[in-house]
Amino acid sequence: MASIYWDESLLTGNAEIDTEHQYLFFIMNNMQDNMAGVGVDMSLERYVDMLNKYAINHFSHEEEWMSAHGYAGFEEHKKEHDDFVIEVLALETKLWDKKLAIADLKDFLLYWLNDHIRKSDMEMVRAIIERIG
Ligand SMILES: [Fe+2]
Repeated sequence: MASIYWDESLLTGNAEIDTEHQYLFFIMNNMQDNMAGVGVDMSLERYVDMLNKYAINHFSHEEEWMSAHGYAGFEEHKKEHDDFVIEVLALETKLWDKKLAIADLKDFLLYWLNDHIRKSDMEMVRAIIERIG
């Protein structure tokens, strides 16, 4: 299975946010290796815990950055972050019901990558860079 690579088109110019986005790629690749049985044996509980911690940490950094620069799309962007947290809660419920598979988590992150990081985050970055010059 092909790895999901981070590439420079995802650079925001904010080193903290870039490092955190790269971490999400690390998690996705780790999940793929786990699914393929390639030397990774991490529990579903651990992945869900990582995603919860990621959301708390990373979203607060992005939200601080957006409000520091008066980003007009703040509320809309924050809503997407809140929806991520709600989705992780739903996945956690599936976990306790023993209905969760690693593929569910990976597919969700892939969707998030393409739908939020590549679109909403990059749009936010462009607007802020334009504003601060
Ligand atoms: Fe975001």
